[in-house]
Amino acid sequence: MATRAVVLAAGQGKRMKSALPKVLHEVAGRSLLDWVLEAVAAVQPDEVVVVVGHEAGAVRDRLPAGVRSVVQADQLGTGHATRIAMQAMGLGRNDEILVLPGDAPLITGATLARLLESHRAEDAAATLLTSVLADPTGYGRVVRDAGGHVRGIVEQGDAGAAELAIDEVGTSMYVFQAGPLQSALSRLDDDNAQGEEYLTDVIGILAGGGDHLAAVSGPAAETAGVNSMEQLAAAAADMRRRINASWMAEGVWMADPDRTYVDADVVLSTGVRLYPGVHLEGATSVAAGAEIGPDVHMRDTRVGEEAVIRYAVIEGAEIGARADVGPYARLRAGTVLGPEAKAGTYVELKQTVVGARTKVPHLSYLGDAEIGEDSNIGAASITCNYDGYQKHRTVVGDRVRIGSDTMLVAPVEIGDDAWTGAGSVISHDVPPGALGVARSQQKNIPDYAARRRRRAEQSGDT
Ligand code: UD1
Ligand code: CA
Repeated sequence: MATRAVVLAAGQGKRMKSALPKVLHEVAGRSLLDWVLEAVAAVQPDEVVVVVGHEAGAVRDRLPAGVRSVVQADQLGTGHATRIAMQAMGLGRNDEILVLPGDAPLITGATLARLLESHRAEDAAATLLTSVLADPTGYGRVVRDAGGHVRGIVEQGDAGAAELAIDEVGTSMYVFQAGPLQSALSRLDDDNAQGEEYLTDVIGILAGGGDHLAAVSGPAAETAGVNSMEQLAAAAADMRRRINASWMAEGVWMADPDRTYVDADVVLSTGVRLYPGVHLEGATSVAAGAEIGPDVHMRDTRVGEEAVIRYAVIEGAEIGARADVGPYARLRAGTVLGPEAKAGTYVELKQTVVGARTKVPHLSYLGDAEIGEDSNIGAASITCNYDGYQKHRTVVGDRVRIGSDTMLVAPVEIGDDAWTGAGSVISHDVPPGALGVARSQQKNIPDYAARRRRRAEQSGDT
């Protein structure tokens, strides 16, 4: 006996009104389908097959290794999709088939394990996962007989008033024995409101044939499907609460978890402090005691211990221990900020290494630059790294004092312990220890104000 999983992901998701296939929409940085596949992987099935159809190539490209796909060229319904998956698998009659929709990202491996255990313990032909919902609108209703036995599932569009009042719904998650499933699938028709072959009808067919059906109740917080942008946002909010609760349990402090957005693959440490409006995405990690926010958007970035980052947009950067970023800083790909370094107010860095304890406090752009340790970049100094055709490098040594409003015209190198005069346009290297000044000499014109006044009085326009 083998356990095989089928994930239905061929539909377009019309109700999303989106060009992106529904199952590729993301919740906490992973696609709906990735979340489902992760829960499936937790029960270690012998085979996983994803049914793709709408934008099949795009969906297939995102599948993890070891997951097969089959194409349902025309989306003729969930029953039809399941039959196509069954045909693609080398089935044994006693195999178990776990079926899941690709649009239910909140399901957990623990609940699927419970579903499988119950199916085996009951020795059922089919076991369905059901949920009781405060608002069951849109879901298939589970119809039971007077003895409480499941008789079938009725879709919203095909339900009468009595069935619409039922608050127990099918979640589109089931375990079947392969034999009974195959024979029931071969008897499906599309004589219903949507003109589709419903997988849900398999339940009625099996019940009518006297097969033993079981049902397991799953938490509504895990079984919700995503059919619309509103439901996508609701699923993201639920996932956010789950992720944030798990980090708070690890000692992460959040001023307002409802306004703290941490993607699934982000790694935080004990004692991290997150203020509202923080978005941590991709392969980001934050070391102990770092303080981030308010309002920081950060992607694929490593933050060192006790760094402080306020009001910033950061991507592909490495921020050293006790470094200080913002407010209003932008760190682009290839930024490496050394320990205790500073990238302050209105500072943009790109492909730039800033050495330990070096400060870039105000109004600077540094691109394609390497700055040594213990240097200071005066306010409003920038690298002129682009000549209109190519980017060039700027190298600044240790203990350098770059005067305010210095233009570093690359390629250019400033030696250790050197200075530049404020307002200089530095287009030649400055040797170690030297002062580079490149600006016109100041000239003072004495009594200028008085002479000016006299001239005005004489011409009569005071
Ligand atoms: C489905 C169930 C409904 C259940 C609900 C739970 C049916 C007929 N209805 O409704 O009883 O309460 O899920 O969320 O099964 N798909 C295909 N091929 C198709 C059609 C759909 O692969 O031809 C895939 C979709 O991509 C999707 C999943 O099947 O991932 C479910 O389809 P969807 O249209 O979302 O079904 P619901 O209307 O939500
Ligand atoms: Ca759905």
